[in-house]
Amino acid sequence: MSDSNALYQERKCLGIPNPQDYHQFIKSVLIPEDALQRRIAELGAEITRDYAGKNLLLVCILRGGVMFLTDLIRHIQVPVMMEFMAISSYGAGARSSAGHVRVTLDLATDICNLNVLVVEDIIDSGHTLKSVMELLRARRPQSLEICTLLDKVVRREVVVPVRYRGFEIPNEFVFGYGLDIDEFYRNLPFIGAVDLEKYQAA
Ligand code: IMP
Ligand code: MG
Repeated sequence: MSDSNALYQERKCLGIPNPQDYHQFIKSVLIPEDALQRRIAELGAEITRDYAGKNLLLVCILRGGVMFLTDLIRHIQVPVMMEFMAISSYGAGARSSAGHVRVTLDLATDICNLNVLVVEDIIDSGHTLKSVMELLRARRPQSLEICTLLDKVVRREVVVPVRYRGFEIPNEFVFGYGLDIDEFYRNLPFIGAVDLEKYQAA
């Protein structure tokens, strides 16, 4: 049995769907690649202006934020460092955050007195980022702000102060450009909306 077959068997045992060709369940391309890249360049320019004369630490929330971070950082012209943090908000197979978050990978840097900008793929209910912000604020950074690529504003359950927002999006489950459906499709260069019925039926 090949490694990928072993992986598929394991997913089957866990009740997690195996990946299909996304053409079978995509509802629409919500944000095409060129629009994503144009907006990310604008965000980078805005961050460069706002942090002029300062050092900056980007904290990427793994794994969804990683594509956004690596594109965004190329448009930032102030001295910038990067760090990673992983949070588990819900397991594969679930579609919404219950408000329980767990740090599965913590920062390796002391952020005390640093200008910290948290880089996130998407804000939905807001529970994940609210917890992350509380945790980071307790470490006394000089400043602490949020930059999210996508914002599902209508789904918000708790207040999170978003300083930089790429796109406000409707209440759709989206995938691509770092965002996964059951851990796959992060590699696609655009943001697509899922037809959940077609995805589950397949
Ligand atoms: P929140 O705690 O409800 O704000 O959820 C935030 C996290 O849920 C994000 O960082 C994503 O990992 C995940 N998430 C929320 N909506 C979507 C989506 O439409 N597609 C993929 N992941 C999502
Ligand atoms: Mg995320």
